[in-house]
Amino acid sequence: MQEISSRLKKENISIGFVPTMGALHEGHLSLVKESKKENDITIVSIFVNPAQFAPSEDYTKYPRDTEKDARLLHSEGVDYIFIPPVAEIYPADFKTYIEVTDITKKQEGEFRPDHFKGVTTIVAILFNIIQPSSAYFGQKDAQQSAVIKRMVDDLKYDIAVRVCPIVRENDGLAMSSRNIYLTEEERKKALILSASLKQAEEIINKEEREASVIIKMINRNFLAEKSIQLNYIRIVEADSFKEAEKLLSGKEYFILIACKIGKTRLIDNILISV
Ligand code: PAF
Repeated sequence: MQEISSRLKKENISIGFVPTMGALHEGHLSLVKESKKENDITIVSIFVNPAQFAPSEDYTKYPRDTEKDARLLHSEGVDYIFIPPVAEIYPADFKTYIEVTDITKKQEGEFRPDHFKGVTTIVAILFNIIQPSSAYFGQKDAQQSAVIKRMVDDLKYDIAVRVCPIVRENDGLAMSSRNIYLTEEERKKALILSASLKQAEEIINKEEREASVIIKMINRNFLAEKSIQLNYIRIVEADSFKEAEKLLSGKEYFILIACKIGKTRLIDNILISV
């Protein structure tokens, strides 16, 4: 893969890169479409990255269907699919990790302490192999995108990081490879995330600017649904991921929600311009 990328680079062919863990859905395909629009060549990696899963998480049962993924990617006209074996990425003597400090410690970082260290390590490795001009990530993992942008700036990668909008099912549920874990009943309950985000947006449109008031109002939805375990509702500045107290006009914020429905942990967010 590195040889192919180096040759393409020498020939001045722009490479768009979409890193994935497979189990592809319309959200991933929207990244592929964007990459195809903006680059000569599009490369997609499929790698379920053990380093970003805690021992208690779903690494072994994470959905894998490489043949179906490959069919979908071929029909989108992807140029290369890169599926490295785990032992090649992380050989037995592997010792180097990339860690972005500070913004990785809050929100998702509070519930998944080493998660972002695993993400930045694999993304850095894949960037070194693929050598893309642009790389595409989904807004669904908004904090991940902010962390990767920080890494790209700090490590002086000459790569444009593009963040594409969340793709939702017709009823509002944000697409995620983990949605397939949900039972029929849990799938209905999962609408609490997108509905609460919409409600928060409406509250802000009615001129409420105190983050704690907005959070308290949508927190009521979760208090009323005892079977859902809320991890957090937060309002953060869009770039720095610093938690906001008061929303200031002219600025952008993410409202973030994470919760567990049955055994499945779901996250969702909305970007608000005040
Ligand atoms: O968002 C994902 O699917 C993963 O975190 C990524 C970026 C492919 C790294 O493993």
